[in-house]
Amino acid sequence: MKKIVPLGLGALLVLPLAFSIGADAQQDEEPTPLQQAMGELNGNMRKLRKLVESPADNQAVLLETVRNVQEAALAAFANPPTAEAGLAADDAAMWQAQFKRSVLALADTSVQMEIAVLSGDADGVTSAYAALGELKKSGHDTFKK
Ligand code: HEM
Repeated sequence: MKKIVPLGLGALLVLPLAFSIGADAQQDEEPTPLQQAMGELNGNMRKLRKLVESPADNQAVLLETVRNVQEAALAAFANPPTAEAGLAADDAAMWQAQFKRSVLALADTSVQMEIAVLSGDADGVTSAYAALGELKKSGHDTFKK
């Protein structure tokens, strides 16, 4: 005779788990385009941290990584956050314009790093990296809710 009890018990244990995983997946929201851009910035900045220590040995990957930073900065520019509710329209527009300026500075600084890499200017690479870190800090202090 077939033993059906163990199967029944197994289903009892597994089914609620399957439902709870489904529910979690539904609750997890997709990252917004801005959050995706920030995630890209984060991954590429982490990569840069090691690479900038010896730019001459890492030129190709450095260039690829710094160009990824440029693209992510421009993606952030194209997807600015909205200012907090309750601000006057002019103030909200100003806040957003300042955000765009700040991420363009990020793009510009990463192009400066690209130029430093291409011209073999190791100090320029390090100082551009430090400037990117400063822009991140001030950008988050001002714009991250
Ligand atoms: C290299 C520089 C930067 C890095 C590595 C970085 C990294 C990050 C990370 C990891 C997050 C969290 C994303 C998430 O919730 O999934 C974030 C969020 C954010 N960052 Fe940056 N960031 C940088 C520069 C900037 C700059 C310059 C600005 C402003 C001009 C800025 C504004 C923001 C804002 C507004 C958020 C919140 C986004 C949201 O949840 O809607 N970030 N950033």
